[in-house]
Amino acid sequence: MAKTTLKRLLAKAEVAALVREMCPQDAQVCVCDQDGKPLFGDPAVVESGHTVPLTEGNRIIATIKGGDRCETVATLLQYLVNTELERLALGRDTVEKYREIFRSYNLGTKLGSCLDTKEVAGIVTGEIRNLMGADVVAVLLCDDAGDITEIFADSGDRAEHLTMLPMAIREKTVGYLCVGNRKKTEHLAKDLKLLTTLARQAAKAFEKSQVYSRLKESFYSMVLALAETIEKRDTYTSDHTRRVVEYSLAIARRLGLPADMHTRLEMAAALHDIGKLGVREEVLMKPGPLNSEELAHMKMHSKFGEDILMHITALKDVIPGVKFHHERCDGCGYPDGLKGDKIDITARIISVADAFDAMTSDRPYRKALSLKAAFSELMKHSGTQFDPAVVKAFLSRPVQEKLGIGGHTVRRTGLQA
Ligand SMILES: [Fe+2]
Repeated sequence: MAKTTLKRLLAKAEVAALVREMCPQDAQVCVCDQDGKPLFGDPAVVESGHTVPLTEGNRIIATIKGGDRCETVATLLQYLVNTELERLALGRDTVEKYREIFRSYNLGTKLGSCLDTKEVAGIVTGEIRNLMGADVVAVLLCDDAGDITEIFADSGDRAEHLTMLPMAIREKTVGYLCVGNRKKTEHLAKDLKLLTTLARQAAKAFEKSQVYSRLKESFYSMVLALAETIEKRDTYTSDHTRRVVEYSLAIARRLGLPADMHTRLEMAAALHDIGKLGVREEVLMKPGPLNSEELAHMKMHSKFGEDILMHITALKDVIPGVKFHHERCDGCGYPDGLKGDKIDITARIISVADAFDAMTSDRPYRKALSLKAAFSELMKHSGTQFDPAVVKAFLSRPVQEKLGIGGHTVRRTGLQA
């Protein structure tokens, strides 16, 4: 490096001119690298005289031979070499600083809109693994008492040499970052500095996701309390809402719907009949069949659901699942007579889950169907009332096993195989 630096310096016209100016004809000077190769001047015409070394730290990088001007030229070149090296080091520091800022910014951008703790952990472990060249990265999250509550690790290999760093924000430790390597790895100061910066970014993201998660839980409890109010006012068997939510989520997972849609579906399934709050008591509680006016009023519940939810900003995207859960694939449903995939997927899923639970539950005016009969009904109306893909997913073995209703397994009182 120093050799290159010196060579580069001497190649500059202004430096060469300066050295030449300092060495008139009668005071010839020659600069050779440590292998004796000339970098400036001709050693053949330089008479023996002084030899002055040029150094970088403790290392000799060149020698200057010649007459009385040797010392002067050596002082000049040494000064130029030192200055150039300092400038390069400063440049490297600046580049490193920018790189660190960029990496930190990059991680911050990726984490910016992420509110799910598992997703945050995935981004943090993946990014740090790449940046640090680690074999494995793990995130350990703490509760307020400082006890480890969750551990997320990327799919890296086993590692024996670990570096652990706290993730802290406003003097509160939210967890630890663990970076491991199979072989003993010297982490340079700059690596640890970068890791500290990333740990700070990660701490912010985890704190945000945990606050969001608590908010979501409280909000969901509120939604469930609301759903319970509907159950109490209706002729449902208890736990209808919970089962519709459970069936809906199992179908969504089988269909491979994205995770953000699961939340929307869960809320919509819990609130699918919230509009019944607007249905007249005598119609809602009537034990026998409804007359045409009563039926028309009852059908209004999906529209009433929309009217109620549109006033709650956080539940706006839940409206399609609630409003359209009585639409049919053949367009003969209500309230809008939508067809096929014009009906929101959450509504198509809730429709199957709701119908199955209604069929397999006792009602004041009829007994529950057997599981076999209920499955047959779903298949019979697949493609007309129900979305065939949703029915297929619900009747699939994994979903049935997951829900414990496949293979004629009786899961709750009142169901017959
Ligand atoms: Fe309904």
